[in-house]
Amino acid sequence: MLLSDVLRHELGLTGTHVGCEHGVCGACTVLLDGRPVRSCLVFGVSVDGQDVTTVEGLTEPDGSMHPVQQAFQDCHGLQCGFCTPGFLTTIAAYLEENPEPTEDEAREAISGNLCRCTGYQNIVASVLRAAELQRGEP
Ligand code: FES
Ligand code: FES
Repeated sequence: MLLSDVLRHELGLTGTHVGCEHGVCGACTVLLDGRPVRSCLVFGVSVDGQDVTTVEGLTEPDGSMHPVQQAFQDCHGLQCGFCTPGFLTTIAAYLEENPEPTEDEAREAISGNLCRCTGYQNIVASVLRAAELQRGEP
């Protein structure tokens, strides 16, 4: 069974969305030991012993939003929201590696995720805003 199906159908973690089912759209992205992977391309059994973080797991322990989630709210980084879980996990992992991206770097960071609604501009703004929030800037 694919990891995306394990998450959604066995564990009820429906925050992970499935779009193309062949590794193109990025909607199903989760973090595997902190690194983004397309859960529609991975067998669930193959991740035994590894940490899987879904969009549900980005939320802070006190229930508050992750800075990337907050930034998407602040910058209107979503419309229908179908693509959003994949963007959130992708960006959260990216900012761990590059906490101060330029706008061009932010565009590159999300270049593997597809969105049918937003035109990407507000998602780029959300990446930059999330980086500010993580750096503690107002
Ligand atoms: S559903 Fe996995 S990449 Fe599109
Ligand atoms: S917000 Fe609708 S697909 Fe991205």
